[in-house]
Formats: sequence, C-alpha cells, structure tokens
Amino acid sequence: MTDDFARAVRDGLSASPKTLPSRFFYDERGSALFEEITELAEYYPTRTEMGILVERAPQIAECTAPGSVLIEFGSGSSRKTETLIAALDGLAAYVPIDVSASALEGACQRLQQRFPNVAMIPIVGDFHQPPALPAHLVDAPRIGFFPGSTIGNFTQDEAQNLLRIMAKTLGPQGRLIIGVDLRKDISRLLPAYDDALGVTAAFNKNMLTRMNRELGANFDLDQFRHRAVWNEADSRIEMWLESLCEQTVRIEGRSITFRSAEGIHTENSHKYSIPQFQALAERAGFGSLNVWSDPQALFSVHELVVRAL
Ligand code: SAH
Ligand code: AVI
Repeated sequence: MTDDFARAVRDGLSASPKTLPSRFFYDERGSALFEEITELAEYYPTRTEMGILVERAPQIAECTAPGSVLIEFGSGSSRKTETLIAALDGLAAYVPIDVSASALEGACQRLQQRFPNVAMIPIVGDFHQPPALPAHLVDAPRIGFFPGSTIGNFTQDEAQNLLRIMAKTLGPQGRLIIGVDLRKDISRLLPAYDDALGVTAAFNKNMLTRMNRELGANFDLDQFRHRAVWNEADSRIEMWLESLCEQTVRIEGRSITFRSAEGIHTENSHKYSIPQFQALAERAGFGSLNVWSDPQALFSVHELVVRAL
C-alpha cells in the first residue's frame, strides 16, 4: 500500500493541476473522520440512505436466495449492511472489500458477534480487483452492495469501468444494490462538504498528514486550507487543498513547489439525476429493477441486475 501511495503521490503532484486519488483518505484516522462526517447535521447522505434501506430491506431480502454471498464494495463501518444482513435469511457469507484494514477489522468483529452463522470473509484491497472466494462459495448466488454514493467519487468513464468489473464479479442475473446521491441545490450540497465544525476540512487535510507520516514529507498543515467547490459542468462537488502561500515541500527527497492559491484536487463527488444514473448503469451492462428515494429526493438507492457481460 505504501508503494502504491508513493507512486500515486509522485504522479499526482507532478500533474497539472496537482491531484491525489481519494482512496488514500482512508487510513485509520481517515476512516474514523469519515465516520464523524456521517454524523454531521450537514451531511445528509448517510442518514437518508439508511432510512431508505431500513424501509426497503425486506423487499431486497424477498428476492435473495438462501445460501447467497453478499459482496460489499467500500464497506467502511458496515453500519448499513447490518440492516441488510438482519433482513436476509440464510446468508452464507459476507465479503466486505475495503482499502481500510482498520475499518474492516472493527466491522467484521461486530458483525460476527451479531450474525454468528454468516461467514465473514474480509478482503483488504481495491474493489477494482475481483475478489477471490473460497472454493465452496464460488458457485453460490451473489448479491452486490455498494452504498454511500462511493460511485460518485469516480468520473462517468471511471464509474462505467468499475460497474463493468462489478457486473463480471456478480455474474449473469447478479443483483447490485447501489446508493447514488442526487443533484440538488448547492445551498444544501456545499455545507455537506464544508461543515461548520471543520470535520470535512480535517478529513481532507489528513491526506497531508498521511504523506508526512508515510512518505516523510514536510507539509505544514497550517499553510493549506480545505475548499469545497461545485462544478456545474461536471455535476460534482470537488474537494481541494489550497496552498495559502508560495511554498516548497519536500517529499521522498524531491522538492514540490506550490504557487499561492494553487490547489491539490483530492476528491470528486458526482451528483446524478435518477435517469442519468440508470443510463450510466445500462452502458455498464446493468438493467434497472427498482429505484427508491426519500420524500425530499435527496438520495437514491438502485436495485440493478446484470443483463450483459
Ligand atoms: N460504505 C460505507 C463507507 C463509505 S466511505 C458507507 O456507505 O458509509 C468509502 C469507503 O470506501 C471507505 O471505507 C474507503 O476506505 C473505501 N474505498 C474507497 N476507495 C476504495 C477502493 N478503490 N477500493 C476499496 N475500498 C475503497
Ligand atoms: C465516500 N464518499 C462517497 C463520500 C462523499 O460524499 O463523496 C466521502 C466524503 N468526502 C467528503 N465528505 C464525505
């Protein structure tokens, strides 16, 4: 992982604009900060999606055969999954995939206690890699779960590519339950990514702390500020770390210079309309079975099925 991080930092900070992949937010501290974000008054996605899942879990469970394997992509704390597993009768195994080892460990310990008959098979790694399942589960029916609108952290081309990989993993007629944040007024969106308590700012700046600790860099956190920007053309919130002055930073023996107000682009969070997302899923080989939303139409949960591989 450190090699992967070092390579991404080397490439990303030589690019113009400077950029870093958002998956590197999630070391132990980053995962804990993300959990704090999910509790913030301004961050509506988590509680809204949870509400939709609590209501729809019985419907999702109805179509799930006993002996199925639940594969979750970017599982984090698996709080939403707990609701789903409680509704699924006779689930054989739960396979959470996440780059954050600390998040996986905490979640699996908790879930194993609550669901002793479900085998926990955590995979620390990138969800672009198809998971290797134990031989006795290779032919079990599979259901995919990709909540949190993590799909929004990818551009449309990247998202299509990722959904295709997931379709291959789930196989013909495999189902994917996926959470997708919806387009809405920026007066609601911006505070969700720039909260009053500064938790999102700390989450963003944790990328600098991680470079300091793991790559021996010397970023001064007080010389950068968190920025959340709405990009209308690409329908996304962008997070940036903006340099407050002209400065030079050392990383792995190299010097990286920043102009005053120059930024590092750390995250995209795309927002979709329901038809836009359905069209994207269709291009990736999925058909739409169901789509559910909340009364304020803030968030959507799609039930997709693999139609073409
Ligand atoms: N599913 C949870 C967590 C969402 S946060 C929820 O809905 O609340 C995004 C999660 O995806 C984090 O736990 C992060 O570590 C993980 N993640 C991000 N990019 C990833 C990647 N490329 N491969 C695997 N996990 C990834
Ligand atoms: C995980 N991901 C979908 C979150 C989002 O909303 O894009 C990460 C996040 N970034 C800032 N706040 C939360």
